[in-house]
Amino acid sequence: MIVTIDGPAGSGKGKIAKYISNKWGFKHLDSGILYRNLAYKILKSQIDIKSTTEIKEIMKEQKNISFRNYKRLRSEKVSKIASIIATHKFVRDHINKFQRNFVNFNKKNSHFVIDGRDIGSVVFRNAELKLYIDVSEQNRAKRRYKQLIDSGEKSIYRQILKDIKLRDKKDKNRSVSPLVIPSGAIIINNNGNFLRTANQINKLIRNI
Ligand code: DC
Repeated sequence: MIVTIDGPAGSGKGKIAKYISNKWGFKHLDSGILYRNLAYKILKSQIDIKSTTEIKEIMKEQKNISFRNYKRLRSEKVSKIASIIATHKFVRDHINKFQRNFVNFNKKNSHFVIDGRDIGSVVFRNAELKLYIDVSEQNRAKRRYKQLIDSGEKSIYRQILKDIKLRDKKDKNRSVSPLVIPSGAIIINNNGNFLRTANQINKLIRNI
């Protein structure tokens, strides 16, 4: 069984996916980490982000994509590069293949919860349950601001809101796999209390 979770930056997809993984024992795959990993490698190697040839070189050198969630992958710099490279079809194809292989390899003894931007719409279109997480821009910016401050990064709320709007624009308007509400997805309003969101999702999973 696959549960997909899509939604914009800062909507709480990761928290919801972790919750489902713990509560139901599903394997969690955070697809954003895969983009962030590659973005981090690009940042470190100081290549020209506009050069697709150089990005392809880095991808070739990257033997295994890791999905360990290191703190350094969550910085704003990495976020920006991740959203830029995610516009390339060759990058998306590479990362989608990795995700499908991961599921195929583990499917005999696992269920999965996978979060991202195109999971229910492109990568796992036949998933048993598709969720789309909806939260206002302002609430997302507030949560992201708190996250950054708590992790010790300097941060300005107005700048975070601006970045969130920009990232949404990029994610929703790119020509390859834009962020959309997947067909058949259930929209989860995650503006309020997490417990309410969790209860709603648990009911959906119970009824699959
Ligand atoms: O969910 P996140 O913030 O960790 O994602 C980082 C970036 O990767 C984000 O700008 C969009 C991109 N991404 C994507 O395009 N498709 C996915 N399935 C997951 C992430």
